[in-house]
Amino acid sequence: MTNAATDLVGQTLGPYTLERLLGQGGFAWAFVGREANGTPVAIKVLKPRYAGDAQFESRFRNESETAAKLEHPNIIRIRSVAKTGEHVYFAMDLCADSLGARIAREGPLSEDDILRLARDITAALEFAHQQGVIHRDLKPDNVLIRSDGAAVLTDFGIARAVSGYVASTGVNMTIGTPHYLSPEQAQGRPLDQRVDFYALGVTLYKAATGEVPFSSNDWFELARMHVEDPPPSLRGKRPELSKRFERVVMKCLAKHPDDRYANAAELRVDLEEVEQKRRPTVTMGAAPTGTWQREALKDTSTGRRPWLVIAGVGIGLVLLVALVVRLMR
Ligand SMILES: Nc1ncnc2c1ncn2[C@@H]1O[C@H](COP(=O)(O)OP(=O)(O)O)[C@@H](O)[C@H]1O
Ligand SMILES: [Mg+2]
Repeated sequence: MTNAATDLVGQTLGPYTLERLLGQGGFAWAFVGREANGTPVAIKVLKPRYAGDAQFESRFRNESETAAKLEHPNIIRIRSVAKTGEHVYFAMDLCADSLGARIAREGPLSEDDILRLARDITAALEFAHQQGVIHRDLKPDNVLIRSDGAAVLTDFGIARAVSGYVASTGVNMTIGTPHYLSPEQAQGRPLDQRVDFYALGVTLYKAATGEVPFSSNDWFELARMHVEDPPPSLRGKRPELSKRFERVVMKCLAKHPDDRYANAAELRVDLEEVEQKRRPTVTMGAAPTGTWQREALKDTSTGRRPWLVIAGVGIGLVLLVALVVRLMR
């Protein structure tokens, strides 16, 4: 039995050769590999300790097969789910980058870049939720970025395999980072698709500031913060972000699922509005605060317009009467 990821490098699993380790999560390793015809792929291999557990193995395979059925341009394409010898694995398209790696490399992203990625992620969620699949583990490392810049979601439903296993066996197993966990997940309450909007809110917050809204080394303290503490203001950390964008992120981060978006279509509409309202700012090259200043101007000008019309008509009437009186003399 293989005990370390390094033992697998250079080995062949079914039709794939494993070339190097990409990284690892709680229960699986991710490798860069190659098909026999030379096509590069990413391969996720269940760690041996879990591959040896029939119940975990079957949950992992079931969830991988469900994810493989989600065919959408913003969801990773799973090429195969298989077992070869003692190894359980699935192969998927290899992406050039991930949002997690990009933030680590470049720091906070521009609002325009974040909005483009958010639109892609929301499209993926809208499709998956319609099929009854909740992601449950949305975070920057699970947002891959294709070479054309599009965002592609990976690890759909894998967290369900883990939480189902934990619930039925009592085995203590962390899914991964608790920084993206919704208040209802932190409290072990029933959950629905709206957990994905909370995790998206944390992901967008991280992309915009380089920091997650809540941070602590203590798992219980972090869970408490998700449940009780208001997230620190986004524009307090980065004033050039638009108010509209901040509102969308904060709505995603609402403590109670009823105060978040009810579905991805609602979120999509708000994101489109943020993008549309930003466009004039970009073309006019205004100062970073231009958007809200122009809105303030627009609001007052439309507000005053009826008075201007009434005043104009009034003055016109007075002049007309004066003219008539003068002509009659
Ligand atoms: N298909 C893929 N293409 C490129 N990178 C990937 C792919 N799948 C996973 N990765 C990257 O490999 C690393 C390990 O992934 P994973 O095992 O899912 O752990 P986690 O997502 O918890 O970090 C992550 O940094 C992830 O972004
Ligand atoms: Mg992952």
